[in-house]
Amino acid sequence: SLLSPSLPPHSSFSPSPPPSSYELLFVGKKEDLISAQRTVVSLQGRDVLIIYHEGEFYAIDSYCYHSGSSLETGDIEELNNKLCIICPKHKYKISLCDGEGLYRARDRSQSPPPLRWFSKGVKQRVHPIIEIQGELYLRPATSGYIESDYYQGEQGKTHDEVTCVFPVG
Ligand code: FES
Repeated sequence: SLLSPSLPPHSSFSPSPPPSSYELLFVGKKEDLISAQRTVVSLQGRDVLIIYHEGEFYAIDSYCYHSGSSLETGDIEELNNKLCIICPKHKYKISLCDGEGLYRARDRSQSPPPLRWFSKGVKQRVHPIIEIQGELYLRPATSGYIESDYYQGEQGKTHDEVTCVFPVG
C-alpha cells in the first residue's frame, strides 16, 4: 500500500481500506511541516493547525472552542497522561489526539477533596493526518457538531442546519 499512516497515538482512524481521494486534502510536504513545527493551513475554508511534536503530527482546528483565540502559539504539555495544547488566551487545556477539554478541580466526592483532572468531553475538532510518499494529507473529520466549529466561518455558526463544515462528497 502507498498509505503510510502517521497518526496521533490512540487515534481510532484506520487507513485501510484506503479512503477515496476526495476525502483527502493536501496539507504540505512532510519535511516542510517538520521544519515549521506548527503550520496553519486553510482547507476548504477551515483553518487547521498542523503540529509536529516529538515525532508525531497532529491536526486540530485552529481556533479555541472557548472564545476563538488562535491555538498556534499554545504550549504543549502532558496532562493526565494526555498530550495537550494550552490555549494562550485563558489557558484552557485541549487534548491533541482527540480534542477533549480537560480541567483540574477539587474532587468533592472525597474528603479532604484532592485536586484531580476532569473531562469536559470533546470540545475541539481534530483530524487524522496521513502520509503518502513524503506528503501529508488530512482526512477531514466531519461527524456531528463540535464546539470549535463555531469559530470556523459562518457555516460553523448555523449548526442547526449543517452537521459539518467540509463537503463530504
Ligand atoms: S479562548 Fe482559548 S481559553 Fe479562552
